[in-house]
Amino acid sequence: MGIGEAFAREFARRGHNLILVARSGDRLQALAEELRQKRGVEIDVCVEDLSDGESPGRIYEFCRFKKADVELLVNCAGLSLAGDFAEMPYKKLEEIIMVNVMATARLTRLFLSDMVAKRKGSIINVASLGGLQGVPGLGLYSATKSFIMTLTEALHEELKGTGVNVLAVCPGFINTGFFKHSGHNAAKLRLPKSEADVVVAAAIKGLKQNRIRIFPTLIDNILAFSQRMATRRIVIRLAGFFAAVKD
Ligand SMILES: NC(=O)c1ccc[n+]([C@@H]2O[C@H](COP(=O)([O-])OP(=O)(O)OC[C@H]3O[C@@H](n4cnc5c(N)ncnc54)[C@H](OP(=O)(O)O)[C@@H]3O)[C@@H](O)[C@H]2O)c1
Repeated sequence: MGIGEAFAREFARRGHNLILVARSGDRLQALAEELRQKRGVEIDVCVEDLSDGESPGRIYEFCRFKKADVELLVNCAGLSLAGDFAEMPYKKLEEIIMVNVMATARLTRLFLSDMVAKRKGSIINVASLGGLQGVPGLGLYSATKSFIMTLTEALHEELKGTGVNVLAVCPGFINTGFFKHSGHNAAKLRLPKSEADVVVAAAIKGLKQNRIRIFPTLIDNILAFSQRMATRRIVIRLAGFFAAVKD
């Protein structure tokens, strides 16, 4: 669903065969069937829970079993929980780190070797504007997105000349179920929300331009750039103000 679904729709429209991964098998099957009918592409569904540390390995094996030559990996699945870190349930803390950090790192590591060997491939990591600084009320989430951004930056340089490129797309607020899923009252956000296809278009543009990271909207770009002119304390407070987790 959400941004991942928008990626699937756009890549199917462009004629790519896809492997879709998430926990909700029925939703994945329905989307796969719709896109097969509409776009005439091959779509496989791999139902996995990325909070299980073994799932990236199983996804990789699924692709090998299907003899899928994965040219593009989109690490998009992610979650958050709005509220004070001191009150975050331990189980949720682990789930967020496993999905946002561990699954992204493991899937990247697994698919990267083959891409480097073939001297061809791309990885899109879905980070966030929230990864540019700690966001009060979203501390763990913003830390996981910082991880994705710095890993992507390092890989982008390491992979120079290999034929493989890695991009971090860093959206601001996007109109998906993400806020409902994370207990974050979207009505209180102090910045407008964009649609998921804006993220997809930015990511495709970013890959074409071999960018390290890309911010999808003008507001995202202004906020990212203006950080350079403010003190860290102001940047963090403003991030908290815009996200408005607390009143
Ligand atoms: N929405 C925003 O404002 C925003 C802004 C910046 C960045 N992002 C990032 O964009 C990405 C997508 O978010 P979204 O807005 O599309 O959120 P969403 O609508 O809540 O979708 C999250 C997706 O991740 C999958 N997912 C969650 N936990 C999973 C797990 N344990 N195993 C496998 N799949 C799992 C969900 O599928 P199942 O539930 O079926 O597993 C779903 O497809 C996330 O990384 C998020 O951090 C979002």
